[in-house]
Amino acid sequence: MTKPLSRLLRQEQFAFLARDRAGWDEHLGRVRAFLGEGLQGADSTRPVLILGAGSGLEVPWELAPPGTTGWDADPWSRGWTALRHHRWPPWVFADLTGGLEDLEATARRARVEPWSGHRRDHRTAARRLAGLLPSLHPEPERLRSWIATRRPGTILAANVMGQIGVVAERLVEASFGVPPWNPDPEQADPLVDALEGWTRRALGALLGALAESGAELWLVHDRAVFFGGGALELGPWAESWTRQIHPGETVGASDPLVGLDVPALLGGGDRCFRRERWVWPVAPEQRHLVEALALGRPRHGG
Ligand SMILES: C[S@@+](CC[C@H](N)C(=O)[O-])C[C@H]1O[C@@H](n2cnc3c(N)ncnc32)[C@H](O)[C@@H]1O
Repeated sequence: MTKPLSRLLRQEQFAFLARDRAGWDEHLGRVRAFLGEGLQGADSTRPVLILGAGSGLEVPWELAPPGTTGWDADPWSRGWTALRHHRWPPWVFADLTGGLEDLEATARRARVEPWSGHRRDHRTAARRLAGLLPSLHPEPERLRSWIATRRPGTILAANVMGQIGVVAERLVEASFGVPPWNPDPEQADPLVDALEGWTRRALGALLGALAESGAELWLVHDRAVFFGGGALELGPWAESWTRQIHPGETVGASDPLVGLDVPALLGGGDRCFRRERWVWPVAPEQRHLVEALALGRPRHGG
């Protein structure tokens, strides 16, 4: 992994841990209980893998079978986990999407003229990048090969899938030195659309690798992010999150999973044997709709 990329992930982790966690108790209780259930029920004769293991704030490592492997691209994540849980698990420090290095190199290419080394102005560079992004097809090769070699029986995804697009955005911003997006969210922005396309392909490929793994899956992710302090009402479970949650007029929403239907991409909703959603007050005027899904192994194999 390149230096800017690992520095970026380390900074993101610092920012995550430095947040005021006063309102996080319910979220932390629920996410730990959910992931803990996955760890306790895991077939201990087969490897267990925790994606987005981070610093272990949300992961009850004391319930993890011996040999459980953490996966996180933040170079300090295992150290944080060791401090918090007094455990030094096997770890993979790699980009789960397999596409961030390419994305970074492409942003650099869009920004700097290769023949002169001059920086293009931001608008030209942003237009170039928007044109280049559709040719990128991130493939999670490291994850696929880890799965093929180790054959894990259980895989947890600990709040990482909703971060894939955020990290991609931060990477482009860091590469440009300023946010290159159109500041008016009401106006069309080809770069925003192109980066959303990249995120959709990256997440789709990641979910494809998980679907093919044959492992039991315990996934927690941000299903939506709401901005503003207005009312937010969570109704009874509905297949589609947009039908379960009713934001008031003063609340704006964004979809970190760019419209993907996670259960459908993992073989269908009937593979789900546990599912819940809750609202996590992350910061003033920022609430996340968290989704937790447990999916079984397909009946025909695995
Ligand atoms: C919101 S944090 C999850 C916190 C973690 N579950 C914990 O208990 O501390 C998201 C984590 O995903 C990791 N991450 C984000 N994008 C990644 C990627 N493309 N590949 C690997 N790890 C990534 C970050 O480094 C971060 O630790």
